Amino acid sequence: MRRILAIETSCDDTCAAVLEGPRARSNVVSSQARLHARYGGIVPEVASRRHLELINPVIDAALEGGGTDLDRVDAVAVTVKPGLIGALLVGVSTAKSLAAATGKPLIPVDHLHGHVAAAFLEPEPLAPPFLALIVSGGHTLLAEVRAHGSFAVAGQTLDDAAGEALDKAARLLGLGFPGGPAIQREAAAGNPESFPMPVAMSRGGGLDFSFSGLKTALVYAVGDLGPERTLERRADLAASFQEAVVGQLVAKLRRALDRGGWEAVALGGGVAANALLRERATALCAERGVRLKLVPPELCTDNAAMIGSAARHAEPIAYPGYLALDAAAR
Ligand SMILES: Nc1ncnc2c1ncn2[C@@H]1O[C@H](COP(=O)(O)OP(=O)(O)OP(=O)(O)O)[C@@H](O)[C@H]1O
Ligand SMILES: [Mg+2]
Repeated sequence: MRRILAIETSCDDTCAAVLEGPRARSNVVSSQARLHARYGGIVPEVASRRHLELINPVIDAALEGGGTDLDRVDAVAVTVKPGLIGALLVGVSTAKSLAAATGKPLIPVDHLHGHVAAAFLEPEPLAPPFLALIVSGGHTLLAEVRAHGSFAVAGQTLDDAAGEALDKAARLLGLGFPGGPAIQREAAAGNPESFPMPVAMSRGGGLDFSFSGLKTALVYAVGDLGPERTLERRADLAASFQEAVVGQLVAKLRRALDRGGWEAVALGGGVAANALLRERATALCAERGVRLKLVPPELCTDNAAMIGSAARHAEPIAYPGYLALDAAAR
């Protein structure tokens, strides 16, 4: 499959990309973040309706930006799970229609494989084996990537995802949505040591994560301060919270490296766009003499280039075998 048209609509970004080998010829993301901001989070029904309006223009822009058209792509790839079912359905139905109308194969992709496969993309593609820390709005996991098309989970969150915790913290602090970038901005002016937050599962050698206690700690801190003092101390609260989230992520990455056997690490998922996490992971990997692949921020948050990248190593389904294919929430 030389040239792939990839489509991603699992959450609130409408995305399409054209891939040629490990190079994205185009990568179009139409974010719905502003649409959902007024609700303080993503409203699934609103997301699916907006995907419906955006999907065709976004695909057109990706084909045009990639200097190609539908006739000249070899396959259509699409995220089939996990995600918001109504949102996924828009992408899957569109991909099936485009592929069927042109008799091309369809490649179903798992969104998480996409976040891992962002590391296979240019610039400086990383090849397995490597350890991937995938941190997004719905997932937090350490993945052992030993081949392009699969990974094993070495540790994962037992409750909230890191991105979800950042989004909830931002909402509590009145910083808007999406929360991760807002916390990062606010934290720049704050002292990360001003509000010590609990570090979950800091003892033992486990690789699982937990963020719900951190959220509760912030709720108590805000409750003790009251609304006015919370506003005054907002930068300090954001910095302390970000420090605790990043601290836990890097502590578990360090533990995984302590077990040995890894010469390369990749960060992926929306939270991997976080500057403090990138800085701490860079320092850790330099200390260990391990290569670190820092996926560019625009390939960390949801995009279709990563879906096309995963599709290169997944099984295509020839027409008409995919006509009964369905999306799945998990
Ligand atoms: N600079 C940043 N710092 C911290 N968090 C960030 C940053 N940029 C984005 N995020 C967070 O990344 C998350 C979105 O990531 P992504 O788009 O990969 O998640 P998702 O697709 O909603 O979830 P999943 O991939 O698990 O299905 C949000 O929680 C957002 O707050
Ligand atoms: Mg994602």
